[in-house]
Amino acid sequence: MKQEISIIQPEYLVEDWPGKYDVFSWLEYIVTVPNPIFFITTRKANGAPNANLNSWGFLIGERDNYSSLIALLDNSHTYQNILREREWCVCFPSFQNYRQCFETIRLNAPDNDEITDAGLTVELPKSVQAPRIAECLISLECRLEWHRALYENSRWHLFVGRVLHVAMDESVMVPDPVERMRIMELMYNIRSTVHPMTGEQYGPNTLGLLSRVEDIFGKQGHPKAGG
Ligand SMILES: Cc1cc2nc3c(=O)[nH]c(=O)nc-3n(C[C@H](O)[C@H](O)[C@H](O)COP(=O)(O)O)c2cc1C
Repeated sequence: MKQEISIIQPEYLVEDWPGKYDVFSWLEYIVTVPNPIFFITTRKANGAPNANLNSWGFLIGERDNYSSLIALLDNSHTYQNILREREWCVCFPSFQNYRQCFETIRLNAPDNDEITDAGLTVELPKSVQAPRIAECLISLECRLEWHRALYENSRWHLFVGRVLHVAMDESVMVPDPVERMRIMELMYNIRSTVHPMTGEQYGPNTLGLLSRVEDIFGKQGHPKAGG
């Protein structure tokens, strides 16, 4: 049976860390639709590489308008870096590098090279100055097109950047989608799950991986063809 859930936060829902439901809507922990994890890489004011592990964002756009849409906290270094330099790279790490990915958060300081310090490798970009991460099998170099606060007084800020250049490792160039997803080993941010009717919660976030990719149309292709 389906329950109808009001958007008003229930009183029985208790934060397991202070400010949790200020930074993230409590509904994020009810809905729990996972987003892929990626890096936004930028340059700090002193030129050092900066890495922001991110999951509120995606790739969109038609024809030559392929774009990166990202949501950033307005107290992050990346927010300042993009406003200053108007560019970034989106880099998709694999599960095998998850420890280094999370190290970039622990080693988040104003002036250091976060990519190298976390055990990853800086890779030179082609069309922007923001660094790429060599271990990421796919990187997209982006230039800022527009930005705005999510809402007035929101601490979340949206940025859209046009993709100028793509770097892709040969290992993921396989046409078979099942095989390609297996090689990419994308990670998904699965928020700590909460029971909407009781407030019972699991605790920490978890990391998701694609465990099933089905080739439903096979070689016959999409019913409307071309897909
Ligand atoms: C799985 C995961 C997803 C995250 N998603 C975002 C996000 O979408 N936007 C954001 O601003 N921070 C996000 N963060 C937090 C940033 O990674 C973290 O605050 C980082 O240290 C900010 O780096 P910066 O200050 O160098 O930009 C996420 C962290 C984790 C672990």
